Order: sequence, then C-alpha cells, then structure tokens
Amino acid sequence: MRPRLAAFRTWLSLCAFAREFWVYLNSIVLGEETSRNKCADFNSTTWLEYSQGTKLMVQYLLLTRQNANCASLFSQDCLNHTQKHTAYFNSSLPTKVIVHGYRALGSKPSWVSGVAQALLQEEDVNVLVVDWVYRASFAYNLVVENYKEVAVQISVLINQLTKYGSTLESFHFIGVSLGAHVSGFVGTLFEGKLGRITGLDPAGPMFKSADPYDRLDSSDALFVEAIHTDSDYFGISIPVGHVDFFLNGGMDQAGCARSRFASIFIYFPVYGYVICDHMRALHVYMSSLNGSCPLVGFPCSSYEEFLAGKCISCDGHFNGTCPQIGLLKNSGITASPLPNQEKVYLLTSAAAPYCAHHILVELKVSPLDKTGEVQLTLVSTGLPETEIKLKLNTDETQFKKVTAHPEQLCKIDSVQLKNIGGRFYRQGEIHFEYICISEIPQTRGIDPLCVKNINIRRGVLWAHDFVQVC
Ligand SMILES: *[C@@H]1O[C@H](CO)[C@@H](O)[C@H](O)[C@H]1NC(C)=O
Ligand SMILES: *[C@@H]1O[C@H](CO)[C@@H](O)[C@H](O)[C@H]1NC(C)=O
Ligand SMILES: *[C@@H]1O[C@H](CO)[C@@H](O)[C@H](O)[C@H]1NC(C)=O
Ligand SMILES: *[C@@H]1O[C@H](CO)[C@@H](O)[C@H](O)[C@H]1NC(C)=O
Ligand SMILES: *[C@@H]1O[C@H](CO)[C@@H](O)[C@H](O)[C@H]1NC(C)=O
Repeated sequence: MRPRLAAFRTWLSLCAFAREFWVYLNSIVLGEETSRNKCADFNSTTWLEYSQGTKLMVQYLLLTRQNANCASLFSQDCLNHTQKHTAYFNSSLPTKVIVHGYRALGSKPSWVSGVAQALLQEEDVNVLVVDWVYRASFAYNLVVENYKEVAVQISVLINQLTKYGSTLESFHFIGVSLGAHVSGFVGTLFEGKLGRITGLDPAGPMFKSADPYDRLDSSDALFVEAIHTDSDYFGISIPVGHVDFFLNGGMDQAGCARSRFASIFIYFPVYGYVICDHMRALHVYMSSLNGSCPLVGFPCSSYEEFLAGKCISCDGHFNGTCPQIGLLKNSGITASPLPNQEKVYLLTSAAAPYCAHHILVELKVSPLDKTGEVQLTLVSTGLPETEIKLKLNTDETQFKKVTAHPEQLCKIDSVQLKNIGGRFYRQGEIHFEYICISEIPQTRGIDPLCVKNINIRRGVLWAHDFVQVC
C-alpha cells in the first residue's frame, strides 16, 4: 500500500505543479489582467435575486482553442484591442454562438462546456456563449416575454463584431429550446443574413401557432436546421428550418422514461428527469460534432410512412444526398435551391453516440386466408438483437418495415422468423415467397440479402444464417 500511496502523492503534487505552471504560462501570454483570475462562468440566479433585480441581464463567455477549458468574460468593450485580454476573439475566424433556453431554477446549463469543447475540437472558431440565465428563469410565460429583448441585446454585440471584421455569414447560432427562438429573432433582426442557425428541439409551448416572425423559421439565416426530439411536450411539432430532423418520430426517445404527467412539471423542479426527451436533441447534436457516427435523415411526409418503408432514398428535393446532423455545410445538402421546411426522419439508439443503421425488411407472402402476425429478429453476434413484429393483412401480400440495428447489413449474422399469431383466428401456416433485408440509403452494388420460399408454422422458430464479409 505505502509505495502506491507515495506514488499517488507524487502524482498529485505533479498535477498541482502542472496547474501552477499553466497559470504561470497564461500570465506570461495573456498579461497580468487575466492571470490568476478564475475562469468566467454563468451568473446563476436565484428567484430572490431575480425579484430584487440586482443582477446582470445578459453576459457573454468566450471560449477559443487558446482557452477551451477556461471561459473569459466577453463584452463589446473587449473589442477595443487596447485591452489585453481580448486578444482571444479573432474576427477572421467563424463564430459559434451558443444560446441556452429556459432555466426553471436559474441554474447554469451544465452542458455548455461540453458543446464548446466539441466545437473547438473540430473547428478553429470563436465560441460565444450567451448567458441570459437571469432573464431565462422565473415563470415560463414571463420568460417568453423577455426573449426578444435578449435577442436585441445580442444583435447589438453582433453589430459591433461586424465593425471589427466578422461577417454576418460567419455566425452560426446554436440555440437550445427557447434559445432557438432567441437565435431566430437575432436572425430576423439581421434580415436572414446570418450564416446558420441550428435549433435543438426549438421550444413548442407558446410558439407553435406563433407567426414565423416571432419564432425560428427558415428565413432567419442562410441555412436553418432543427432537431426535434420532444414535439409532444416541450418541443415544437412543426418544421421550422430548411431541414427538420425528427428523431424517432420526434416525440419519444429511446432510453427516456415515459411520463404522462410531464406537462405538469413545466414550472417545477422535478425537471431533469422529465426533460430527457427534450434534451436528447442537444446530446445527439453534441455527439454528431466529431462526425464519427453519421446520423442521416430521410425526407418523408410522416413517421408512419417512413417506418413503412415508403421513404428509403433522398432523391427529389435532396438531389440524392441525405442530410446529415452535424457540422457539414448545409447539413451536407447539395441541392440548390435549398429545400424548405422539409421533414426528415431517422432512428437512433438509446445511448451515445446514438447512430443506428437503418435496415429495410421486405416480405412477400402467398395470399392469406386469415390475418397473421410474425416476429422477425436480426442477430449480430455480441450485440443486442433487433426484434420487430409485423401484422400481415389478408388484402396485401407485400410488407415493408424500417428498423434500427446497431450494425451494418454485412454484419448481420442471421435472421429469425416466428409466426406468433393467436391460435384460432390467425393464419396457422404462412408461406413466404421471400424475405429480404437491405440497408438504407441503398448503396450501389450492394444487393439485399434474400431468402426465398419458406413455410413457417405457428410457434416454430425459423432461422437462416448469412455467411458474409464486410
Ligand atoms: C455576476 O454578475 C455580477 C454583477 O453583475 C458580477 O459582478 C459578477 O462578476 C458576475 N459573476 C460571474 C461569475 O460572472
Ligand atoms: C479604446 O479604449 C481606450 C482606453 O480605454 C479609449 O481611449 C478609446 O477611445 C477606445 N477605443 C474605441 C474604439 O472604443
Ligand atoms: C486569426 O485567424 C487567422 C485565420 O486562421 C490567422 O491567420 C491569424 O493568425 C489569427 N490571429 C490571431 C491573432 O491569432
Ligand atoms: C466522438 O464523440 C463521441 C461522443 O462525444 C465519443 O464517444 C467518440 O469517442 C468521439 N470519436 C472520435 C473519433 O473522436
Ligand atoms: C444535383 O446534383 C448534380 C450532381 O450530383 C448536379 O449536377 C445538379 O445540378 C444537382 N441538381 C440540383 C437541382 O441541385
């Protein structure tokens, strides 16, 4: 035990030394003003302070590759380059502006540094974080009355920044929930000339039926995208951008507990638990930033049609390229002009990094006397199995379904099928002319995996192994 403890102590003191050294380095590089200062942080608010009106309204935190772990406070005075610590903001680089949403408890949003660091990892940019916690706490309806004023304040800063060399096009706003509409209104004030706005589950309550002028819409920036994950409660259910990603239908997210009483909690602290669906947009976006796990969407008129295999390509408005969540220019959309309010659907997994493979299952049966029900299972060794249930009607012979699977097509080792129809009123034996599985979007040269001519009796498990290499 002893030597280990000693080693640990040495390590600790090394860490302490490294930290001191880092502060020392900073003090040389940045001048004494910021040295030994603590990192700037959100100005969290209590309701008491709110009612006394003693705190700052809006402040800005700046993070760059030089200070990715330690925000500095930023204001338009800092643009005066005679003041040392402003050397950080580089107006020839693009700027990401992060705007949080409603803060019921006046607490700081804990995810901000994660998003900032993921952005800085990918691109050399200025990250400006808007801290409007002071205006964003208190009752939701009062906060909604405030959001335009906050947007006006932000626009004043952006105006200053353009005087120092930033272009409007170089701004990319990332707004969470109500922050998406704040960003949208900043965009309105600049007549849609900002570069990009990403709305992460833009807030729904009090916005769904609002005039586009009052909410995020595709005229607010050169490119506007939104990710929808809770459109039945806190998120907006209508498309608001050039492209709108609806994850798992946009309402209920895998891995989030259901609560029928969610809406009751909107003014209450029991919060973190209930807003799982709503915050999923943010977590998926964060995870998409390094591009290690593609999240592509399929244009479709509804989630039901998408699941029914009716929207398996990105031809048409997207000119053959499916839009992808993340930092690709225009979400990877190459079509021109850009689509408008185009809903795209995708399935995700329940945990980071969230991406899943979309597998299309196609069945053709001989005509049925009675309806049937089958369970189909996709197996990739070592991974959770994917199970889907299909109802077979008597008036159809071809059935399709899209499902999410953790692996790509060539890593599906076997497919299983079981007739699970009830004893007397469902078809006892089903003849399948074929079962085919393929991955969408389909890649040229990769054929679906098909098995032909199968009879399946009730209760008997049928399985077929694929021998394939990727
Ligand atoms: C919070 O606001 C107060 C008053 O406006 C200011 O003096 C203080 O530095 C701020 N705190 C942080 C952590 O930014
Ligand atoms: C910059 O700051 C200095 C000193 O505080 C001041 O004299 C000068 O007018 C400022 N310049 C601008 C452009 O605001
Ligand atoms: C600002 O960014 C530009 C473009 O990347 C770079 O050439 C320049 O050196 C940067 N300026 C400072 C002061 O870091
Ligand atoms: C990308 O980010 C995710 C989530 O933040 C992380 O799990 C993954 O390791 C990262 N991948 C790469 C290649 O950096
Ligand atoms: C579609 O893409 C092709 C190249 O892939 C391009 O030549 C064509 O102009 C595009 N059409 C539209 C309408 O964007």
